[in-house]
Amino acid sequence: MLQNALTIADLKARARRRVPKMFFDYADSGAWTEGTYRANEEDFAKILLRQRVLVDMTDRTLASEMIGEPVSMPVAIAPTGLTGMQHADGEILGAQAAEAFGIPFTLSTMSICSIEDIAANTTKPFWFQLYVMRDRAFIESLIGRARAAGCSALVLTLDLQILGQRHKDLRNGLSAPPKFTPKHVWQMATRPFWCLDMARTKRRTFGNIVGHAQNVGDLSSLSSWTAEQFDPRLSWEDVKWIRELWGGKLILKGILDPEDAKMAVGSGADAIIVSNHGGRQLDGARSSIAALPLVKQAVGDEIEVHMDGGIRSGQDVLKAIALGAKGVYIGRPFLYGLGAGGRDGVTRALEILKRELDITMALCGRRDIRTIGPEILDREPRLEDLRV
Ligand SMILES: Cc1cc2nc3c(=O)[nH]c(=O)nc-3n(C[C@H](O)[C@H](O)[C@H](O)COP(=O)(O)O)c2cc1C
Repeated sequence: MLQNALTIADLKARARRRVPKMFFDYADSGAWTEGTYRANEEDFAKILLRQRVLVDMTDRTLASEMIGEPVSMPVAIAPTGLTGMQHADGEILGAQAAEAFGIPFTLSTMSICSIEDIAANTTKPFWFQLYVMRDRAFIESLIGRARAAGCSALVLTLDLQILGQRHKDLRNGLSAPPKFTPKHVWQMATRPFWCLDMARTKRRTFGNIVGHAQNVGDLSSLSSWTAEQFDPRLSWEDVKWIRELWGGKLILKGILDPEDAKMAVGSGADAIIVSNHGGRQLDGARSSIAALPLVKQAVGDEIEVHMDGGIRSGQDVLKAIALGAKGVYIGRPFLYGLGAGGRDGVTRALEILKRELDITMALCGRRDIRTIGPEILDREPRLEDLRV
């Protein structure tokens, strides 16, 4: 029973039981020592909230805006690759759950379901995340497809032009579709519900790429394909080119350093996401929540600031908002909900976060998420506590 899942950790435990090991591990991993991956979660615990009493707590609202779009709470679904391997048709189910909940869904370039699949199965605009590859004609066509699908924002990822190494993926021989070696067959055979759902869908490889990109080599090996196709020369000039080509709302994802954040202000983008890719890229980089106040200090209100990395509860969401994020994104909480129970599992993850956020805000003596600032924190977080 999904209703018995009270925390994101409960959903994670369920996902572990339902999703084949190679795909569960793909979600639950960071680069090399996984130090930054762990710090993303752990640093939230070092930030304390101020408890207030005897204030009116009626008529609370979590409704806010991200890049001018109304959201029922300031939490968006982060783009995640291979999501259709956590659960059959995972991206479609995630987008439908997000739409019903009134929050943005971001589709990854490296998704299993295609841009067109999501457009055909939802009624409101979603966001599309772009990885820039060497083949610029393909990038132009991807941007054109996102526009044709009615996407209302382009999320340009800046921190994965070279893939960070995740040991688990190499050891597991991760691929999409999975290989049919005895090890992989065993991993799938022990997850019968996953297999039954997967047998019912045709979407088992990279839907945005297969049949669209020219000269695609061995796509099943994500790491070699990334090394071959992603453009390691990506520059601020390219950001300008993409902004002009796209012409709509642009969000820059993967800014961790205040200097880069200042550069982003000059790029004409609408927002930045303070992110270290969920600890999956530069192991040893500071956590996102530790980077957030420094970035916010550098850019002030000159650009809208979002963050992701390590959000596992509504308390975490509130702390990020207090430190200057207009909104946050969830990667793994979304994937664990999806793996645990498909669309209903994603909805459950969102319900858990929303309830925690609402009650936490109330206990801090506040009623409107749009008015939350650093004054709800017990003290200004001491940066030396935050592994900076
Ligand atoms: C399994 C997985 C796949 C991801 N794939 C992508 C991707 O395709 N594009 C992208 O920009 N970010 C990707 N990310 C990073 C997320 O968008 C986000 O930055 C990160 O998950 C946030 O941290 P959290 O998982 O702790 O919430 C991925 C993250 C995970 C866990």
